[in-house]
Amino acid sequence: MISAEKIPNNVNLSSNKRLQRALEHWQPKYIQWWRDMGPQGFQDYHQVYVRTAISVDPEGWTHFEYVKLPEYRWGIFLADPVHDRRIGFGDFFGQPVWQEVPGEFRNQLRRLIVTQGDTEPASVEQQRLLGQRCPSLYDLRNLFQVNVEEGRHLWAMVYLLHSYFGRDGRDEAEELLERQSGNRDKPRILEAFNEPIDNWLDFFMFTMFTDRDGKSQLMSLSESSLDPLSRTTRFMLTEEAHHMFVGETGIARILERTCQLMKQAGYSEDVRKVGGIDIPTIQKHLNQWFSLSLDLHGSEVSSNAASYFANGLKGRAKEDTFEEHVVKNAYYNMEFFEDGKPVTKEVLMRNAMNEVLRDWYVGDCTAGVVRWNRILEQHGMSDRLRLPDRKFHRGIGMYSSFHFDPNGVPLTAEQWEKRKYDWLPSAADTEYLLSIMAEPVYEPGKFANYIAPPRRGINQLPIDFQYVRTEA
Ligand SMILES: [Fe+2]
Ligand SMILES: [Fe+2]
Repeated sequence: MISAEKIPNNVNLSSNKRLQRALEHWQPKYIQWWRDMGPQGFQDYHQVYVRTAISVDPEGWTHFEYVKLPEYRWGIFLADPVHDRRIGFGDFFGQPVWQEVPGEFRNQLRRLIVTQGDTEPASVEQQRLLGQRCPSLYDLRNLFQVNVEEGRHLWAMVYLLHSYFGRDGRDEAEELLERQSGNRDKPRILEAFNEPIDNWLDFFMFTMFTDRDGKSQLMSLSESSLDPLSRTTRFMLTEEAHHMFVGETGIARILERTCQLMKQAGYSEDVRKVGGIDIPTIQKHLNQWFSLSLDLHGSEVSSNAASYFANGLKGRAKEDTFEEHVVKNAYYNMEFFEDGKPVTKEVLMRNAMNEVLRDWYVGDCTAGVVRWNRILEQHGMSDRLRLPDRKFHRGIGMYSSFHFDPNGVPLTAEQWEKRKYDWLPSAADTEYLLSIMAEPVYEPGKFANYIAPPRRGINQLPIDFQYVRTEA
């Protein structure tokens, strides 16, 4: 049984019996899902040193303790309300924000919340086998920290569904546990969340690029006129930052180690002979997850995006940094691809909101790649990582029916087929990665050969701290 005491929350759950009962009904199903679809082999006999959010103030969400994963206290937290908060964009600009869901926007809001909610358990499912191939206890603990927080993000969306969407919301909450990543009949809603993540290079690229899409989406939802949605997503962003930290530093540590091994081996390609991950393989995985994550931002021209903006449901990242918030007669210069050539055309800005958010996202990713390249530079390497052109390998939007190389140069279908594994991970690359990750590293302070140790441990603890321990 859960209670307000057992579920940490700042929504005064115990005072709302109806909601408390609804969540009590959902909770055992969630735990069952976690056991079936969460980290495999780390449910009952391991204690993990994780951070549990117990309130939204800075000390409250940095509470560390050892827990068995199914006993993690998944809580419901909304960021503090902003006094006299006003709608920040769209047709209702300047009016007070909503504490309830307006009937006319119910379906659109439900769809936004369900789509966001679906990604959270999906990523846990995608990552469920990684613990058995971990490069260290430090990394294993970080994986589980990300996993429990994605579980908490699911709780956050389920709380909104149960609180504001009545019966439909309860049905949606059930379905969030029924769809499964990669399942043929009941897949997760968005494609990137149906791709397997079976090695740690994929995991770090996913947390770098796909969790960063999570950041874009959460930033735009935190602008929402529906105040509980804004407050929920604002708190989720604090956790999201850690996920991207795991991805960015994970790749940085692989690069660090690759540079060391390259000095031993001579050339990048030979680094595999000494068990490292060569830079071309790193670049291919970057290409894969960056392009999949670009797709998550949706079609370039979108009437849904226009409507979400007009109705004040989903804004732009950092809406208050824009000069104008109604955006009725503004235009966006968009690059179309017609008759084999790029053509720039004006599109109503509201219809280009997905692209506006994607621009923000690409900028945020670019900064991360610059930081990675500094490591290569410091080691005196001439290789550099780069983001592929945004037309490359797209599955959604206007470029998806054409082929492009990473520089954005158009290719025929035959040229693409011939060359795609120069740019994307091949079966042989995956096989190689799995071969160097076959043996998990569970000894405190030890790291797999392909990755350097982190600069520092978690919560000021030493790097060789036992971040995950088995029960005696
Ligand atoms: Fe999340
Ligand atoms: Fe995340």
